[in-house]
Amino acid sequence: MKTATWILVNVLGIALGLGLASGVVLSDDDEGEGGWRQSRLDVAPADNAFYTEECGACHFPYQPGLLPARSWQRLMGGLDDHFGENAELDGADARQLMDYLSTNAADRSSFKRSRGISRSLQQGDTPLRITATRYFKRKHHELSSHMVKGNPKVRSFSNCNLCHTQASRGSYNEHQVKIPGFRYWDD
Ligand code: HEC
Ligand code: HEC
Repeated sequence: MKTATWILVNVLGIALGLGLASGVVLSDDDEGEGGWRQSRLDVAPADNAFYTEECGACHFPYQPGLLPARSWQRLMGGLDDHFGENAELDGADARQLMDYLSTNAADRSSFKRSRGISRSLQQGDTPLRITATRYFKRKHHELSSHMVKGNPKVRSFSNCNLCHTQASRGSYNEHQVKIPGFRYWDD
């Protein structure tokens, strides 16, 4: 009896998981989300503990689906001078992370923001920053600098999670944005 219940719970869990995953993959449109769509994920969550530990030590662990594989390759090749910091790793660790990043990169993912970011880049474009992509700039052009650079509670667009309250879950929905020090974000 106990086992049967356990199996039932697991089967339900898997069914739920699959339902959620397929819902996410199917949602492709960018604008005009209605209320029911607000819970949809924008990118696949970073689900690798080694990655979130190593690459989340200094900043929010950006989901692999936010940059194409060629960008991750370029970034991982220059960790000794990583935006002015030394973030070097030993060879085996770096390879393991590179594997994870490239397998789940924006150009290999069907999540909507990943596709949007991929599409916004020219073939030869290999940005080192998510914040340098056209897609990112287009999504944030309405924010004025006193909300970001001039905001002592934010400082940099690179701090996704300070404004996107559900960023670690892979959700960047504009309805879940709260800019520190500002009461509301309204369009
Ligand atoms: C020693 C601290 C440190 C570690 C460890 C570190 N980073 Fe960074 N990273 C930084 C700094 C500093 C910046 C620049 C942030 C800014 O401009 O506000 C940055 C920026 C980035 C950006 C660009 C964000 C943007 O603006 O779009 C990416 C992508 C990134 N890091 C990925 C990684 C990855 C992947 C790892 C793990 C291999 C990693 N980082 C480990 C310090 C670190
Ligand atoms: C200073 C606060 C702030 C920071 C930091 C920030 N964002 Fe945003 N982001 C916003 C706001 C506000 C919007 C909604 C803009 C609009 O509707 O015009 C938004 C929109 C978005 C959207 C589109 C969401 C939608 O529903 O259309 C994505 C994707 C996104 N941000 C990703 C990121 C990522 C990834 C980072 C970090 C690299 C980041 N943001 C950093 C405030 C921020």
